[in-house]
Amino acid sequence: MKSKIAELIFKNVEGLTLEEVNGLMEIPPKPDMGDFAFPCFRLAKTMRKAPQMIAADIKEAIGQVDFLDDIQVQGAYLNFYVNKETFVKAMIEAAIAEDFGSSDIGKGKTICIDYSSPNVAKNFHVGHLRTTIIGNSLYKIYSKLGYNVVRINHLGDWGTQFGKLIVAYKAWGNEEAVKQDGVAELMKLYVKFHEEADKDPSLNDEARAWFSKMENGDEEALKIWQWFKNISLIEYKRTYDLLGIDFDSYNGESFYRDKTGAVVSKIQDANLLTESEGAKIVDLEAYDMAPCLILKNDGSSIYATRDLAAIFYRKETYNFVKCLYVTGQEQKLHFAQVFKVVELLGNDWAKDQLVHIPYGLVSLEGAKLSTRSGNIIYAEDILLEAISKIKEIIEEKNPNIPDKDETAKKIGVGAVLFNDLYNQRIKDVSFKWEKLLNFDGETGPYVQYTYARCASILRKVANFSPSTDIDCSLLTEVEALDLLKEISRFPKVVYDASEKYEPSVVARFAVDVAQSFNKYYNACRINVEDDALRNARVTLVHLTKKTIKDALLLLGIQCPEQM
Ligand code: ARG
Repeated sequence: MKSKIAELIFKNVEGLTLEEVNGLMEIPPKPDMGDFAFPCFRLAKTMRKAPQMIAADIKEAIGQVDFLDDIQVQGAYLNFYVNKETFVKAMIEAAIAEDFGSSDIGKGKTICIDYSSPNVAKNFHVGHLRTTIIGNSLYKIYSKLGYNVVRINHLGDWGTQFGKLIVAYKAWGNEEAVKQDGVAELMKLYVKFHEEADKDPSLNDEARAWFSKMENGDEEALKIWQWFKNISLIEYKRTYDLLGIDFDSYNGESFYRDKTGAVVSKIQDANLLTESEGAKIVDLEAYDMAPCLILKNDGSSIYATRDLAAIFYRKETYNFVKCLYVTGQEQKLHFAQVFKVVELLGNDWAKDQLVHIPYGLVSLEGAKLSTRSGNIIYAEDILLEAISKIKEIIEEKNPNIPDKDETAKKIGVGAVLFNDLYNQRIKDVSFKWEKLLNFDGETGPYVQYTYARCASILRKVANFSPSTDIDCSLLTEVEALDLLKEISRFPKVVYDASEKYEPSVVARFAVDVAQSFNKYYNACRINVEDDALRNARVTLVHLTKKTIKDALLLLGIQCPEQM
């Protein structure tokens, strides 16, 4: 409808492209101001006429149109009143389609998303939960827009810390304990190493020597390292399974260990490598940034060197149009430096194709969590606790629903995810069980509950099958029209979320649809006698259910049919 009106304006005005007209069009703040508005301020400059006069001229030029009830000039605006029935029909036709919200703007294009990426031998903590959830949602959003998305888990599985772990394991570890306690035991060994190294600094030299051995392909060193890595992956996998998340590539830092040499040569050949206190760096002073460290004084590569190698590898392997990095904002400088070095090596594409997607911190005030050791909070424990709390609520309120465990899992996990994704990602996330598990308010359970309510209504009506063959003139209540308008925003919402790298746009939309639905549900009886009216009203329930489901799927959240 909007593009139809945009076309009308475009044909009857000079000096604007169709795209510009589309961009200028607005949705009026109040329903009595029409369905769409076009401001004429901008034209006033070029046409040297008062905007009111321009509006009046356009109105005159457009004349009568079958799908418009009225066009009014209000101040500098042209307000369009769409014929309700045509409007309703158009919205229903769009929303009922299987692929509503999808598009093919990404067809033939590849986007790499680097997310989750925990550090091997360390626990999968709440910070990594954020990158995992946000990255997964971006993957779904871009896939919906037709992009080919490569999900990359850039594991932190290389670096001097593994030298330390090997030293600690050999000195104080035992196989049984590691087998038994996995990452928790490895973390203990790591802590122990630091305590002991404070007393006896020569341990640090030993650790460096072991890491050197790893870099030189020493069999024993690599065997222990691989074992630690496998143990860690098994634990991470449990969290990924809870979340229903998978990756296309687990090529982490170790994958690039034989690819950093080529990067260093490239930098050297471009005359960008300089020496500083024995280390090799790229000076970035001209760009107001600290230098990017490339090689340490002992000649070993670092995190940034491996990231540089990864960028060239990915560009070559996937030919991405974008490569996104979802990490905490404390890595802002790191990515700015790395991206700058790529650009300075003559790759102009780095400027808009490499994007850091930072997010805020997680605060756990108010959320008492059982911790396995010390104050370390495992993402897995948060998810399990949410599930068990929901299970209690179900046992208390609705013990007879089928698939209780499955339902509790969907709601518990959904609640944690929704709480994370509802606010702009750069904002800090706070964890308050009472808030995030609430079935009222802007929460996952509230949206899922609305979905389940739709499902329950649909189970009760006889002979309903979704179709566009309904009498649209029967949908007259403001609540019905508001709901339909809300649902219609979906394609734009998906697109906006992708442009801003913001799953919160989708989360907020899901709440808006749920709230509009609940207003509609309170205002209109749905299961009425009259066939035609019932059909029309139930169709809105069907569209709500379908749209909520699709929106939540974009956040990685599933909907239970009953709750
Ligand atoms: N392992 C890192 C961490 O836990 C995140 C890695 C992000 N990705 C990257 N290509 N640097 O902080």
